[in-house]
Amino acid sequence: MLSYLDVTKLYGEVKALDGVTVEFRPGVVNALLGPNGSGKSTMMKMAVGLVRPDSGQVRVNGVDPARDPLAARRIVGYSPEEIVLYESLTPAELFSFVGSIYGVRGDAFGERTNVLIRLFRLEECMGKLIGELSHGNRRKVSIALALLHDPEVIILDEPFSGLDPQAGKILKELLRKYASEGRTVLFSTHVLELAEAVADRVTILHRGRVVGFGTPSDLKERLAAADLETAFLKATGLSEEVRGLLETLWGS
Ligand SMILES: Nc1ncnc2c1ncn2[C@@H]1O[C@H](COP(=O)(O)OP(=O)(O)OP(=O)(O)O)[C@@H](O)[C@H]1O
Ligand SMILES: [Mg+2]
Repeated sequence: MLSYLDVTKLYGEVKALDGVTVEFRPGVVNALLGPNGSGKSTMMKMAVGLVRPDSGQVRVNGVDPARDPLAARRIVGYSPEEIVLYESLTPAELFSFVGSIYGVRGDAFGERTNVLIRLFRLEECMGKLIGELSHGNRRKVSIALALLHDPEVIILDEPFSGLDPQAGKILKELLRKYASEGRTVLFSTHVLELAEAVADRVTILHRGRVVGFGTPSDLKERLAAADLETAFLKATGLSEEVRGLLETLWGS
């Protein structure tokens, strides 16, 4: 379970999060949606203690990541939006490094790395330097590293970005599998068709506030929308804004 209770975060004058209250329950796939700058990455970083809330509470399986980031990181597998990996190491070295940090050793380490490498077809990448890998392959390594310690809570920030269709399909199935095992699964995306296809619950952020929460069909019904894209545009008020701008551009 990953929960936010009245969480606020300011960067100077900017309210990145403004009284966010939401629960991401285990056993379902949760998608976090929202326009650029709406606060998605800020929320996700809070779950591993990379960003501290100014007020309010964040809990991962009962742990406060701001107070005990190490305990939170043992519970959470987090893959950030920006792929930050040591360029001068190989994926094989990184797997060993991350494995040793989390105490994944021996047979468990061999078995998990082997499965993740084969799932994401990383065999040919393992001996190359991270700095030499393509964007998509770095993304795969970043996701695989997040899953290496078999975390109870999985938080992936725009994980599908840059993945080829095969890896995207594998990732969708992995998210479903983790949820079906009763783990907490949260991913962010800008691809609404993807959210509609994969997520059981969707949360929509806009200017640091939750403006929509529910199953994709709940949201569509509540907002009288034919698809999630229309529901998203209605919830975030962008359709009016965009229409106005287009009218200005074309003078109609
Ligand atoms: N380290 C920082 N310093 C200053 N402002 C920040 C910082 N990190 C985020 N912000 C601001 O906080 C707000 C929320 O940013 P955040 O990265 O959480 O949005 P996001 O929903 O992930 O956006 P995107 O879809 O573009 O990834 C934005 O206004 C952003 O400029
Ligand atoms: Mg982001």
